[in-house]
Order: sequence, then C-alpha cells, then structure tokens
Amino acid sequence: MNLEDILTEARRDFAAVDTLPALEQAKARFLGKSGAITEQMKGLGKLDPEQRKEAGARINQAKDGVEALLKARREAIQAEELNRQLAAESLDVTLPGRGAGLGGAHPVSLTLKRIESLFASIGFAVADGPEIETDFYNFTALNIPDNHPARAMHDTFYLGDGSLLRTHTSPVQVRYMEHQKPPIKIIAPGRVYRVDSDATHSPMFHQVEGLWVDRDISFAHLKGVVQDFLQRFFERDDLTVRFRPSFFPFTEPSAEMDMSWNGGWLEIGGCGMVHPNVLGHVGIDAEAWQGFAFGLGVERLAMLRYGVNDLRLFFENDMRFLKQFA
Ligand code: PHE
Repeated sequence: MNLEDILTEARRDFAAVDTLPALEQAKARFLGKSGAITEQMKGLGKLDPEQRKEAGARINQAKDGVEALLKARREAIQAEELNRQLAAESLDVTLPGRGAGLGGAHPVSLTLKRIESLFASIGFAVADGPEIETDFYNFTALNIPDNHPARAMHDTFYLGDGSLLRTHTSPVQVRYMEHQKPPIKIIAPGRVYRVDSDATHSPMFHQVEGLWVDRDISFAHLKGVVQDFLQRFFERDDLTVRFRPSFFPFTEPSAEMDMSWNGGWLEIGGCGMVHPNVLGHVGIDAEAWQGFAFGLGVERLAMLRYGVNDLRLFFENDMRFLKQFA
C-alpha cells in the first residue's frame, strides 16, 4: 500500500468510528505492531542507505499525518460525547413543579394525641422521661428488688453499661414524684421495649401510664377515670370496666382491667393503688397521701379503635396502610 492510500484509509476508518475504544482499535491498524505504517518502516531495511533516508522521511511524514488525523478525530469524539451527556442531563427549568404530597400523622401518633387530649380535659398533665433507664428507676424504685421474679417477666433489653431500655413507662411516675409534691395528676405516654415479637407483640411499643396521688384517692376514682376515658376514646357510652385481682409489685391492691367489648370482655391493662414502698422511695408520706396508677397499651387501643388485626402493620410503614389514616 502506498503512503497516500494509507492516509486516505486512515481518514476513512477514523471517520467511521464514533467511540474512543473503537478509535483505539482503528489506530492499531496503522500504528500498531503490524499496522500499515509499521510495516512500511520494516521495509526500510531492504533499501540502500540513500533511498532509506528519503523513504524514511516520507514514512515519518505519513505517520505524523495519521497521528494528526487520530488526534482530530479523538477530540471530535470527546466533544460529541460531552454534548450527548449535556443533552441527556439537560433540565427544563420552565416545567411546572411536582405537587408536594401532604403527609398524615401515624395512627399510633393520632392515638397518643387523642389519649393526651382526653386526659388533659380532666386535668391530667403529660410527663415524660428517658427511654434508656437505670435499673433503679425501672425496677428497684418500683418495689421490684434484685432477683424479684417480676424482673424475669419483663424480658428486658439490657445495654452493655448496666443501663436498660425501659420495659414500661412506670419509671416516669417515680422520676416525676421525686421532684413534684402531691397532689399529682399525670399521664406518662411513651415508647417501651421488651424482648418479644409476633402478631400481637412488638419489641418496641407504646404505653400510657396514669398516676393520681392526692389525700383521699380510691379505687372508685380509678374506675371512674378509666371508664370515662374508654367511653370517650371509643365513643361508646355503654362501655363498662371491670377489675380482676392481680399482682404488680408497685401497686397494692392490684388489678387487671377489662372492658366490655362486643358482648364479651377484653383485657386492656393493669392498675392498682400505688404501693407505700414506691411512695416511700420518693419521700411521700404514705399515711397522708395515696393514689392510683394504671397502664394501658397504646397500640392495643389503636388496633381496637381502627379495626387493625396485626400489630406489625403499625411498624412496617407501608404507605398503603398509612394513607388510610391521613
Ligand atoms: N407497668 C405495668 C406494666 O408495664 C402496668 C401497670 C402500670 C400496672 C401501673 C399497674 C399500675 O406491665
């Protein structure tokens, strides 16, 4: 092949490719180990010195030509790629914006809000406390000493440093009473944690604890408050509450609360009169003051109110579920 033809062919081959890797391959056909230009160089050895010098110069000129063509084509391809990328990433700033969807509160949050406002309407303040608790507040101050079997009932998540995730919101009543003198009338809503997980148990769930301490608070007040709350919460005037004897270390006497539901009874929480030892821990004179405490499961109330049959739906955050409450 003569040098003219090589240049013509290089021009044609380079023009025919439009990516850099393909261009590299085309380059090899001219400048590679057995490329057309390289072959020409190899032929020089057969010439005599005079001819060789002249032919060598011409081949070098042709080689420069091929390299110039290559460079020009490479730059052109790079420019095309840049343009293609810019076109692909172009943004029409005149398009109208996407509408922002309006979110809604989570059903558990809605339930907590409803609970808080119903109790607020009869004079209960809202108290809160830490979710990472000490053994003292979660157990000892609630009359659950070391090695008490009630500790085993709580399936506690212990953190490495001796603290734990609170298993109930009852420690809030202790913390509150440490700093406030009676009369005390609070609810303590919040997250609690237990090692438990199935259709009706979640390792994290919400409780609301109620506490009313005054000079002559009795079980009758407890029943009145809980029944009135449940009637208003479920909007059922005929709803009634019954107590079954039970045991909690921090209340005496203690009871399990059931409410009437579709012709039967449903257990909805525990309650009792605050144990004198608990009052003693926070320096309240148990001769002069007494009070009741109760604990309700928030998800339980939400499930019954909204007709949700699997607790886990509250925690999966499936939009199709959540949207129904927006
Ligand atoms: N703290 C108890 C629990 O988590 C519930 C409870 C609260 C019982 C107050 C009695 C009084 O199981």
